[in-house]
Amino acid sequence: MPRLRIGLIGWGTVGSALGELIESGPLPLELESVAVRDAARERSRALPDGVRIGLPEGVDVVVELAGGVDGPLGWARETLATGLPYVTANKALLASHGDELSRLAGANRGALLASASVGGGTPMIEMVEHLAATGQIESLRGIVNATTTYILSAMGEGRSYADALRAAQEAGYAEADPSFDVEGRDAAQKLAILASVAWGRWRGESEVDSSGIVGVAVQPGETIRLVAQATRERMTVEPIQLQTSSPLAAVAGVESILEVVVAGATFRISGPGAGGRATAGAVYADLARLVAGERPILFGGAS
Ligand code: NDP
Ligand code: HSE
Repeated sequence: MPRLRIGLIGWGTVGSALGELIESGPLPLELESVAVRDAARERSRALPDGVRIGLPEGVDVVVELAGGVDGPLGWARETLATGLPYVTANKALLASHGDELSRLAGANRGALLASASVGGGTPMIEMVEHLAATGQIESLRGIVNATTTYILSAMGEGRSYADALRAAQEAGYAEADPSFDVEGRDAAQKLAILASVAWGRWRGESEVDSSGIVGVAVQPGETIRLVAQATRERMTVEPIQLQTSSPLAAVAGVESILEVVVAGATFRISGPGAGGRATAGAVYADLARLVAGERPILFGGAS
């Protein structure tokens, strides 16, 4: 089987972990190029030997693990306009321009995959896609930002907010700009993506009523979490004190959880919501679908 040639943009927490997986994993994949902002800087995982450093050219698939919106929007438009698959973990891009990109992929017989954009390594989008088939999803509820869970659970054990945020940053869970995490924007973007998939109509971050955890006090033993909830009509993200009996209260550290209610029955999934290795695993799973000949388009691709 011919190898799928990958143009990777980003060699940070997730991109470099994906590089390792491409090297060691079972799929027929070849890293053709890697783009970074500053190729000369010192990094914990060196750029790979024998791979062209620069933006993708003449590849079979573009994988964007850089973050931000402006650069990725240009790369995504260019890739999808030529009918190539675009794989990303970039929820900020999808919650602001997902509708346009999905249509572009549909019009050009491309593919748009983003398992890692919600739930890190936990296949939340796939679960919602599966459950959406009957058209009977009633609601979504979850904890989808690992950084705030990490901070709030550490604060519940007596650590300070600043200390816990620093630890989340050092572990590579926080966004490049952690205000996206603590102000609730990251969770709002993920919720908008899940709700778009659940009800078959793209909805953006701006439609979410959202507040973050800045200034929230947590007494030792208290279980406060940033909870994301959606129905067909409304999307909210807010810190909520949970009953200890709630399955959401059991989530700590880097874990994320999602509950989907379908015709009165509750379906639940949880797992690592961030971290290089886990998140790269979700990107790798997207690449496995392309290797298998699938051409999925997130949000349906209808024009
Ligand atoms: P990092 O900040 O660790 O890495 C970003 C990488 O992108 C760096 O290698 C950087 O280059 C490169 N980069 C940034 N801008 C450009 C540019 N304009 N041109 C070329 N390269 C660029 O980010 P993460 O790996 O943590 O996150 C990547 C994406 O994955 C984001 O969209 C994030 O939201 C998402 N994500 C992250 C998770 C996590 O646990 N970290 C989990 C789920 C999703 P340089 O190295 O030179 O600085
Ligand atoms: N910053 C994000 C989080 C990374 O803390 O959940 C995973 O998307």
